[in-house]
Amino acid sequence: MQRYWHRGSLLLRSALPDAQSVIDEPALLRLAGRDDVESRLIVREGLHYTLEQGPFALARFRRLPARDWTLLVQGLDHHVPAAARLLEHFRFVPQARLDDVMVSLAAPGGGVGPHVDSYDVFLLQGPGRRHWRYGPQKDLSLDPAQPLKILRHFSPRNDEILEPGDMLYLPPQVAHDGVAIDRCMTFSIGFRAPQAGEIARGFLEYLTDRIDLPGRFADPGRPSTRHAGQVPQDLLDWIQSTVQRVRWQPSDIARFATEYLSTPKPQVIFDRPEPELTRKAFLARVRRFGLRLDARSILLYQGGHICLNGTPVEATDTAHSRWLRQLADARHADAPPGTALDDWLHSSYRCGELLPGKA
Ligand code: SIN
Ligand code: CO
Repeated sequence: MQRYWHRGSLLLRSALPDAQSVIDEPALLRLAGRDDVESRLIVREGLHYTLEQGPFALARFRRLPARDWTLLVQGLDHHVPAAARLLEHFRFVPQARLDDVMVSLAAPGGGVGPHVDSYDVFLLQGPGRRHWRYGPQKDLSLDPAQPLKILRHFSPRNDEILEPGDMLYLPPQVAHDGVAIDRCMTFSIGFRAPQAGEIARGFLEYLTDRIDLPGRFADPGRPSTRHAGQVPQDLLDWIQSTVQRVRWQPSDIARFATEYLSTPKPQVIFDRPEPELTRKAFLARVRRFGLRLDARSILLYQGGHICLNGTPVEATDTAHSRWLRQLADARHADAPPGTALDDWLHSSYRCGELLPGKA
């Protein structure tokens, strides 16, 4: 991590052999037909790419040529348990930095073209081989004629063929292009890094509900004016000093960060358990087998603040907050001590955010 993370690319041969059996092709094509799954199809003709957004009917895939296309499916970890299990290998990076697992299925010659990403990514080769060319470059200007972000010029230093189980780590802004040699699948374990403007807007929204500034503007004995249309300077000065009275504490930052960073993306929908266990049966199962977070759930903590999917969890004593922190770190745990968290466990179970059993 110290040497490569966010700094330089790293090729790891035979990193994760289990990448072979994450999903088969028919299951992937079915996922690409769902309207709650984000998918894209990119077809290359010579140097020109076309982009279609999913969902796709199976008939669309039957009409594809033998070469030069790729299907991308986002959020695979939310829908395929084996893809969620892949993420267990990446828990050396904070969950708050993790985005999702994307998969690409490509016919020979298929790829998304030379580009850069804004995020760190591990490109894990599944079945089949892919030819990767990559390296840092200064000129990151884009080709305006393409419907995707494709680099106008591409001069990669590295040239490698990835076999099943091999993995390539790329930090943001490293130019890369992966072209399928055989029909192949590549899993992109993608990370995220918040943008300054987005965080500032999020924090201001958070503050909106918490601001409590007493007082009101007053102007006793104001002289008459000839410029009724002008905002008076004393009012402006008062606004300036009032805005400067807006204050927050480090605990507001920690609370906001856990809430904000654990909020699922808007398209994420949790499914109620089916069939649903009674409260008694659910808790009995948790006591016996422990529990785990649903693949879509994000549980984060900082200081005394703990948040599940954007909602704070009230932990009444240190044993409970310790247990919640362990759950956040490992995503599974034995039953918590005592019964104080039972209501929270049961309502989170009913929302589909966690489930009994550790695996
Ligand atoms: C792909 O799997 O074809 C694209 C992944 C990437 O370049 O980020
Ligand atoms: Co990329």
